[in-house]
Amino acid sequence: MVRAYRIKVPKSMKRKRSEEEIVSEAADYRHLDREDEGKPEDVIGDMPGIPVMPPADGSKKSNVIFILDKAPLEIGKVGNKHVLLNSDEHANFLKKQSKDPSEYRPDIVHQALLAILDSPLTKAGRLQALYVRSTRHALIEIKPHVRIPRTFRRFCGLMVQLLEKQKITAVGNREKLLTLIKNPVTDHLPVNSRKIGLSYSSSKLVQVRDYVAAASDNVNLVFVVGAMAHGIIDKGFIDDFISVSNYPLSAACCISRICNALEQKWKIL
Ligand SMILES: C[S@@+](CC[C@H](N)C(=O)[O-])C[C@H]1O[C@@H](n2cnc3c(N)ncnc32)[C@H](O)[C@@H]1O
Repeated sequence: MVRAYRIKVPKSMKRKRSEEEIVSEAADYRHLDREDEGKPEDVIGDMPGIPVMPPADGSKKSNVIFILDKAPLEIGKVGNKHVLLNSDEHANFLKKQSKDPSEYRPDIVHQALLAILDSPLTKAGRLQALYVRSTRHALIEIKPHVRIPRTFRRFCGLMVQLLEKQKITAVGNREKLLTLIKNPVTDHLPVNSRKIGLSYSSSKLVQVRDYVAAASDNVNLVFVVGAMAHGIIDKGFIDDFISVSNYPLSAACCISRICNALEQKWKIL
């Protein structure tokens, strides 16, 4: 059973945040420059990690990186509470702010993360890195061994904590498990990365299994999948742009296809 998340905030940190602070924080994360580095860390979360074993033979194996793009992760102050805005619970609030509720689907991010982190691929230690780029320019790094809450409500609570505090740290060893990091995401990718963007709108339709089977083991595969309901991923840094089905799929379904294909390629059962 997954342990409950605990928020341990030193008393000195328990200052009530003004609405303006939250609004400005939710508005844009482009300013993020890691000014907090070097300051003592706040232990704000208790997230047990799943131990990921290194390869049994100690050899260096190729791994995969995922980027979830255009993730609708936005905090709003509804009543007295700071919440992760979503179309199910906050449609009226969003309409009053002249925002389209159908764009607020953090459940897509939640499902996509579970598809990645639950996969045998990740359990076998072959997920090298996982990044989430929000529509508000927050760039989040998620450690591959993190256990994301399985219920949507708790996932929302975790995201609010993360976006407000800029990191979620394990209580035991203070490892940063989820962190807001500096843009652009390309600065965090290995040199020999092949950035593969996914979209139903791509004219290059591939069989994922054949596509990954043909990829060189010397190249780091980086899959960029949209975590939004509508629109298209940012193609600015993409090397290849593919469609993996004749049908529009959910992000989680696309991710499962990629994970399955890599599990076959790397003989992970
Ligand atoms: C809910 S869809 C977003 C819909 C968006 N109109 C699109 O197709 O890009 C979420 C993501 O799943 C991926 N996706 C959905 N269907 C796909 C397909 N047939 N081939 C490749 N990627 C797909 C894309 O990365 C997309 O951004």
